[in-house]
Amino acid sequence: MTTDPVASSDASLDPPSFEEIRAQGHRMLDDMLDYLEHIRERPVWQPIPDAVRARFQGGLPAAPAGLSAVHDEFMRFVLPFATGNCHPGFMGWVHGGGNAPGMLAEMLAAGLNANLGGRDHAPIEVERQIVRWMRDLYGFPDTASGLFVTGTSMANLLAVLVARTAALGTDVRDTGLAAAAARLTAYASSAAHGCVAQAMDLCGLGRAALRVVPADGYHRIDLAALDAAIAADRRAGFTPFLVVGTAGTVDIGAIDDLTGLAEITRRERLWFHVDGAFGALAMLAPDLAPRLAGIERADSIALDFHKWGQVPYDSGFILVRDGELHRTTFASHASYLRRETRGLAAGSPWPCDFGPDLSRGFRALKTWFTLKVHGTEALGAVISRTCALARHLEQRILAAPQLELLAPVQLNIVCFRHRGEDADQLNARIVADLHESGIAAPSTTMIGGRLAIRAAIVNHRTRQGDVDALIEAVVALGDPAVAHRAA
Ligand SMILES: Cc1ncc(COP(=O)(O)O)c(C=O)c1O
Repeated sequence: MTTDPVASSDASLDPPSFEEIRAQGHRMLDDMLDYLEHIRERPVWQPIPDAVRARFQGGLPAAPAGLSAVHDEFMRFVLPFATGNCHPGFMGWVHGGGNAPGMLAEMLAAGLNANLGGRDHAPIEVERQIVRWMRDLYGFPDTASGLFVTGTSMANLLAVLVARTAALGTDVRDTGLAAAAARLTAYASSAAHGCVAQAMDLCGLGRAALRVVPADGYHRIDLAALDAAIAADRRAGFTPFLVVGTAGTVDIGAIDDLTGLAEITRRERLWFHVDGAFGALAMLAPDLAPRLAGIERADSIALDFHKWGQVPYDSGFILVRDGELHRTTFASHASYLRRETRGLAAGSPWPCDFGPDLSRGFRALKTWFTLKVHGTEALGAVISRTCALARHLEQRILAAPQLELLAPVQLNIVCFRHRGEDADQLNARIVADLHESGIAAPSTTMIGGRLAIRAAIVNHRTRQGDVDALIEAVVALGDPAVAHRAA
């Protein structure tokens, strides 16, 4: 065997036999389609046995292994111990259920191995088409820009950075915040997601510069309190620059009064960003879209296609009304990224001019497939149905004397708990038991200082029977006799 690297340069990583890999690839595809077809027969989630966890302690492999052997390892030790969010009984956090065409598109994207940082190629046109669709959906102008990112945490961070440029000008990119005399302050409600404060932190503005405005009993931002906070900051010499409204709060699914926020931000000349991580796609559901009134007046919107849009992870997105401001927030000159008017280096501006990522995968493709194959009517119907299921769950809770509802049901999220002594501990135990039972997987949150079982119905596969199974299991697990056995 030769050791000369030039002489062996025809030894690529491509399979020696495409026939063999084709057959193996078909088996892998069949396995994932079987997984989705028979997902109901599995537990939602199951704990990883110690022996399985130990398997992942092995060192970096120097020698090759057969594809079928690695696939077999995946089937035995990875797939059965996944989060379970494809399962209709998964109701924790805010996880989408994925979908088969989106999964297949991910394979196509990986096959193309496209880098969507820049250059002139069709994959970027796919992303640009989705940007146009989102402009139309939210009534943004043709000059608005958009970009795929990992998720809404990242989209919110980008929005804070664009808002900072709007407030301080592009010089801040060179001189930094320390050189800016203005002490910027931003505003969001107490129900806003933690990633908004994190974005302030990552931008160097600091978490304390995010003023936490009280929310009402429905977790909607208190507009009078927002007005008062802005006025107080101006009097104290701060420079208010940004208001973040939420369309679908993470705890209970509240939608801020977006029209009210649009009025205030216009009057006060502040950037108006909407965190619509899951709620913004309610725009696809005719019965829910009116509740987003005012979103069309936002300066920027963050949303995730991987939540209510059912696109496989990850597929976050940001839309910015002023595309030029968005570009000047991130675009940088580099001789090795020189643009041309023809050839592969044409097509400027490139996606890398709108965010920090230069290497970017083809997230747009699985989103494009999902939107095209299902159509927005079916996706909107899924969104409406999950809200109807949440209302059904609410009714079941109200009818069960052992249970109490902890927050008003506004979209697809239901917060409730089993009554009992030491109810926080009891309900935390019920949720852990539920996870281990494999029947359902809600999560928990704190509502008014009380631990709630939180069911966020996001998955297109969830049916009434799954919601009923959740309720029946909670009632059974909360039975004092069971509590006694668990103690
Ligand atoms: C309202 C809200 N904002 C932001 C996020 C963070 O989104 P991501 O997990 O995609 O970063 C979430 C996640 O659930 C959310 O519900």
